[in-house]
Amino acid sequence: MGALRSFVIFGSLASSALSTAVPPLQPRAVAGQGWSLQSASCPANTKSCGNGSCCPSTSNCQSTGNGEVEACCPSTSNCRGSVEGAPSCANAAWSLWTGSFGNGFCCEVGLTGAFVNGGSVAGICVTSVPSGYSTASLVTKGTGAPVTSTPPTSSTSSSAHSTTKASSTKSSGSGPTSTTVPRAVFAHYMVGSMNATDAVQDVTDAKAVGFDAFALNTHDITDPWALEALGYLFDAADQNGFKLFMSFDMSWRTTIAPSQIPSFLLNYISRPSYYTVSGRPLVSTYDGGFITNSDWLSGFKQPLQAQGINPYFIPNFGDWSGWPNNFFSTYTVADGVFSWESAWPATNTGKSNVSDSVDQNLLQQARAAGKVYLMPLSSFQFKYQGSGQDWYRIGEVNLPQRFQQILDLQPDLVELITWNDAGEGHYIGNFFQQQIDGTNIGDYANGFDHTGWQQLVSPFIKAYKGGTATSGSQILPPGSAPVGSLWYRTLLTSASCSSTIDNSEQAQDTVNFAVLLPSSGYTIKVYSNNGLIGNFTGTAGLNYRAVPGLSVGGGQFIQIVNSAGSVVASATGTKQVTAQSSNATCNWNYEVVGLS
Ligand SMILES: *[C@@H]1O[C@H](CO)[C@@H](O)[C@H](O)[C@H]1NC(C)=O
Ligand SMILES: *[C@@H]1O[C@H](CO)[C@@H](O)[C@H](O)[C@H]1NC(C)=O
Ligand SMILES: *[C@@H]1O[C@H](CO)[C@@H](O)[C@H](O)[C@H]1NC(C)=O
Ligand SMILES: *[C@@H]1O[C@H](CO)[C@@H](O)[C@H](O)[C@H]1NC(C)=O
Ligand SMILES: *[C@@H]1O[C@H](CO)[C@@H](O)[C@H](O)[C@H]1NC(C)=O
Repeated sequence: MGALRSFVIFGSLASSALSTAVPPLQPRAVAGQGWSLQSASCPANTKSCGNGSCCPSTSNCQSTGNGEVEACCPSTSNCRGSVEGAPSCANAAWSLWTGSFGNGFCCEVGLTGAFVNGGSVAGICVTSVPSGYSTASLVTKGTGAPVTSTPPTSSTSSSAHSTTKASSTKSSGSGPTSTTVPRAVFAHYMVGSMNATDAVQDVTDAKAVGFDAFALNTHDITDPWALEALGYLFDAADQNGFKLFMSFDMSWRTTIAPSQIPSFLLNYISRPSYYTVSGRPLVSTYDGGFITNSDWLSGFKQPLQAQGINPYFIPNFGDWSGWPNNFFSTYTVADGVFSWESAWPATNTGKSNVSDSVDQNLLQQARAAGKVYLMPLSSFQFKYQGSGQDWYRIGEVNLPQRFQQILDLQPDLVELITWNDAGEGHYIGNFFQQQIDGTNIGDYANGFDHTGWQQLVSPFIKAYKGGTATSGSQILPPGSAPVGSLWYRTLLTSASCSSTIDNSEQAQDTVNFAVLLPSSGYTIKVYSNNGLIGNFTGTAGLNYRAVPGLSVGGGQFIQIVNSAGSVVASATGTKQVTAQSSNATCNWNYEVVGLS
């Protein structure tokens, strides 16, 4: 029985269904405010913002955020958040397009918007779409006269944007802050075959880390193995003071329909452990945006409301290629929004860092609608199951960079992906053999313990829920000793099997660490094959690096040295690094070791 399932849908069934479901935008027109025009030479009555962007000459250029273009603002105050929330062009003569990450940009009428998936700029304007580019979606056609040619602009304007940064300007704060939900951090949990003992262990471990609840990834609501596992989990949570809620996995497409959810949910929502928001049972999804808003309403939400139960619904209806604007007017069924894919850099973006532009967009939309944003946090992804199921999503320092982005953006809720998905590598808790029986997941996950990451996640949860931390320097260890972890892959990127892994070009041969220091005065030393490859002066709070120089052999370790020169903590890898794989598994899973 397939207890685990593949999470990422490459290709874009979900996104194409989404884009057809989005109604035309009705931009709120503010004179001189909106996305800039993408053009190497700026037309009359506009000024150049640099980077191939033009704004009306009376407005101000606001420099670009990750994966976006310059915004044009009527005054010197930054209007980027408003433009993200209600996308329009700064001049109604221009056409509004959406490209990479669903971000808006503007072209003169007659030109076509084009973009690179996951690119660092929303899009460019061309007479014909260059190879490697996709055609953007036209949102509103401008009122201007058509032009028929474009200066040689595209390559320069896109490469000018080719650097990305991990943190970005905080545009989310500019909308109304409407949320009243208590902050919470959930862990995504793959429901699989298990026994009562396993359930108690997971619940008590997750509670000890500081999680508020498991989001139970449920794709089967009839088979005995699934109902049994849910029973064990709810019993364990009831008895141990932990919470749970359902996250229906709609990517299976045939196993759950919205209309089957009410009767199923009634078996669980009265359990003391069912997570509620103001008394309303929380329900989430992975995928499901291919089902219409009205089917979600009539099948799922309204029948429960008729019985006096008002579910608090925070679905994940997107994929990595971007999100519709007007999410909440499209999906009126939603009380909030969750975005799975923004936890990692988009695929095929080279050695890029994770962007928070999708998060910013959704948070802004949620604020504007008086709804909530559930922001994802994850370490990396690695899956190696053959037939198109072999991929890597960057993990060098993704986890600490997401910590910083979350503290910077201050979303309403956070979900760690995942507690126990061994198949995709991003587990931080235990996984149990019977959950992966009959698969080859053990070939790359057995013996690769990731609980060392819990040393970082726990203080992060505390900092985020405390509500005052806005940067990594405010994530402090629980006591006077440094905490943190070391992680590295045990196979070099030059291994001949690497080409079998999709997106392998994102990886680097680095020894990675993140440590939380109680104060300054410490040095962090990084070793590979027993040689010093990095020596960093620590600062209070979060310190992290991906240190180049991972080399073949043992002796992969980090040391935290105090000002007197004593080693006060260290983490030592238990696995050798090799240049080639000894067998058919090209294992890019991480060896993760916590400090002790
Ligand atoms: C041009 O793009 C770079 C890189 O994205 C950015 O740092 C800079 O602020 C931009 N310049 C302007 C004027 O927007
Ligand atoms: C990613 O972030 C790291 C750490 O902040 C930084 O050193 C590196 O230059 C960044 N990489 C890119 C491609 O921006
Ligand atoms: C429960 O399953 C675990 C492995 O998942 C096994 O080690 C343990 O012995 C089982 N416990 C019981 C009581 O069957
Ligand atoms: C490859 O070797 C590793 C460790 O040596 C082992 O865990 C794994 O099962 C092996 N994979 C295959 C396909 O034989
Ligand atoms: C590491 O850095 C410390 C503090 O900056 C310095 O005193 C020490 O000499 C350095 N060690 C090495 C081996 O570079």
